[in-house]
Amino acid sequence: MPPESTDEGDPLAWARDYTPILRSFQAEYGESKPLDGHTVAFASHLEAKTGVAIETLHEAGAEVLFAPSEPQSTHGDVVTALDARDGITAFAWEGMTDEEFDNAQHELLEHGPDFILDDGCELIAKVHADHPDVAANVIGGGEQTTVGITRLEAMEREGVLQFPVYGVNDTPMKRYFDNVHGTGESSLTNIAITTNSIISGKDVVVCGYGYCGRGIARKARGMGGQTIVTEVDPRKALQAHMDGHRVMEIDEASKVGDLFISATGNRNVLRTDHFERMKDGAILANSGHFDVEIDSNALESMADDVTTPKEGITRYHMPDGRRLNLLADGRLVNLTGPHSQGHPAEVMDTTFAMMFVAAYEMLAEGVEREPGLHSIPDRLDREVASRKLDTLGISIDDLTESQQAYYDEWEHPDSSF
Ligand code: NAI
Repeated sequence: MPPESTDEGDPLAWARDYTPILRSFQAEYGESKPLDGHTVAFASHLEAKTGVAIETLHEAGAEVLFAPSEPQSTHGDVVTALDARDGITAFAWEGMTDEEFDNAQHELLEHGPDFILDDGCELIAKVHADHPDVAANVIGGGEQTTVGITRLEAMEREGVLQFPVYGVNDTPMKRYFDNVHGTGESSLTNIAITTNSIISGKDVVVCGYGYCGRGIARKARGMGGQTIVTEVDPRKALQAHMDGHRVMEIDEASKVGDLFISATGNRNVLRTDHFERMKDGAILANSGHFDVEIDSNALESMADDVTTPKEGITRYHMPDGRRLNLLADGRLVNLTGPHSQGHPAEVMDTTFAMMFVAAYEMLAEGVEREPGLHSIPDRLDREVASRKLDTLGISIDDLTESQQAYYDEWEHPDSSF
């Protein structure tokens, strides 16, 4: 008989294999417990990789309170496994309604965390709006996604942010990998699984050419899609053009697209005017954080009939006979569709590592910052990058003394031109 496997019945086992940076933190801090005495609130999409991030904070000594950052992306087996451990408490279950999601986040905050790692700024916004006594004792926080940074910037402009928050999303180690590669691959994978339809040969309209849109468009083209990009920022539009995508206004793109993927962090990107122009059978998916990018209320009111031809697909039957297919109710297609598991684990390894070092720096190293939104120090970003390279067995060069000196001088006496 082979030895009994420890993988059996452990929903985190597979993800652990693909999260070596987090495991390196577990190994390094598992005995010294540098986060001992702190209570960290953690909001994110609750599936296996997130579970490894939560157990890493716990291994490093923190008590962890966790909640979803999106009501529909929770995996119940992961929640149950984590909640069973002393020092980890779940405010989550699979299939929450929007109201239950809000209530659970409030309940978590009533337990008085002193650090908040957020995804979409829901916990941070709620603690400021409704739990001022708790906010007064929060040492700091970190924010994982673009739309959360936008909200934090608004809070900072209004002067209401009461503690320092690291903009984890804005670090190279986060957005070059998570937003570009993670969102790109997982959105297309989930669209393909949900529809069982080919990307190759389709006219794929990507709305927004930021980090996420860039990854989606590049990978869709790699799969043989004919890519079209829509933008509101002239520099991003030019970048898309120079990268080889067709760029046009959404009014035009609406007429030609077979598949639409929105990744803007903005609302009503696809709306009535566009639904009126779309082809029969068009597929609509959202990869932005909130379910506001595709105006599903407009689809609902325009349609004569609404059906579910396949799990995860809502089909709107227009009075003129066209059928428009909305995936995952317009929520994050890579996280809330049937069978969706979010980003590949290797990608979330770097994102969660950045969240971990944000907490470690303020809680264990005791670095104090003014209330407000802060960039993660470059040294932490480089440290995570180096750890990642180590786990991949990739070595890189060091600058020689002469090369460093060349960077440090401005006169360059030995230049030959
Ligand atoms: P970004 O700020 O880099 O890019 C957004 C782009 O959308 C910008 O270039 C902006 O000019 C453009 N845009 C805004 N309104 C538009 C409109 N009406 N039409 C066309 N383009 C428009 O943001 P990033 O990092 O690409 O994130 C986009 C969204 O995706 C955010 O909501 C973010 O939170 C979310 N996100 C989702 C992930 C997922 O797992 N699906 C992972 C990471 C981020």
